[in-house]
Amino acid sequence: MRVFQRLEQLYAIGGGPGANRPHPSPAEDEAHELVAGWMREAGLEVEVDPHGNLLGRAAERHDVWVGSHLDTVPQGGRFDGALGVVAGLEAVRDAGCGSVVAFRGEEVGCVGSRALVGRGEALPSAFLELHVEQGPVLEQTGAPLGVVTGIVGYARGELVFHGQAGHAGTTPMAGREDALVAAAAAVLRIRDAAAAIESAVATVGELTVEPGAGNVIPGRVRLSVDARAPDSTRLHELVGAIGLEPGHWTEPAAMSEEPRRTLRDEIERRGVPVVELPSGAGHDAGILAAAGVPSGMLFVRSLNGGVSHSPDELSSEEDVALAVEVLTASLRRLASTTSS
Ligand code: HGY
Ligand code: MN
Ligand code: MN
Repeated sequence: MRVFQRLEQLYAIGGGPGANRPHPSPAEDEAHELVAGWMREAGLEVEVDPHGNLLGRAAERHDVWVGSHLDTVPQGGRFDGALGVVAGLEAVRDAGCGSVVAFRGEEVGCVGSRALVGRGEALPSAFLELHVEQGPVLEQTGAPLGVVTGIVGYARGELVFHGQAGHAGTTPMAGREDALVAAAAAVLRIRDAAAAIESAVATVGELTVEPGAGNVIPGRVRLSVDARAPDSTRLHELVGAIGLEPGHWTEPAAMSEEPRRTLRDEIERRGVPVVELPSGAGHDAGILAAAGVPSGMLFVRSLNGGVSHSPDELSSEEDVALAVEVLTASLRRLASTTSS
């Protein structure tokens, strides 16, 4: 299946283990150049916008977009982002209409799609994003596809703890000001704050210890916080409970009625059960929806318990083939109904 062959070619960029195409990096650039070549092969007009987002436009109704991102987390999987771009290319080519887009820097705050909506002009009249679910719901319910109802809101920032660096051997335990002990207590407090709020999550993914020697009491510790909740009220409650001054804030975004209905119909008419579910991951579709672009997301089942942001990320060729079919049909319908 060409989609899987192309995912392998992208996966090989940047060296292993896993996919390593961080934004910005030569590996992300190489992925964009590879996809631009595939766009040209498909006869699309290729354009790079002022923010480095890559677009492949069909001649007809190129204001209806499908796509996702090509950057990845460190040691990421084959499917996150790349599937939406490669499948979007298949859809535009097969439908003979629309545009396929690869946004820059989704993993570091949706850099490309934010820049696009911040510019205001040249927004699509509708947007569809195919993406792996990155969670266990579809696998548990036995459904190959899902229609996203809304995208989680998230706040990101850091907490810094100051102590007194000192000699690990000569400093009595009593009276130590160990920054790492304080940070460790905060990590548990962050976990408990999220556990106390229904459907909220919080993660400390990075931790830096200074000066960082085994025989020195840590004098300074910095940790990252990624806090998420399905609605704004709970997100504010969580961020307040953690005591975080967020450096980045993205409001939850509902997916739009027409794209959702179109995706649902196209799944139903293929005799496939329709599952609607929220997304715990952030996506470019959330940025476009928040900017008023009618946006919809189609999830394809993640296998292996839904693992993602890992080389173990997996979806089946059968599910992906069905997803491409539904995406193509939905693109064709939106291109024939949405006002340009
Ligand atoms: O972190 C996320 O939600 C997405 O993978 N960028
Ligand atoms: Mn993604
Ligand atoms: Mn991701």
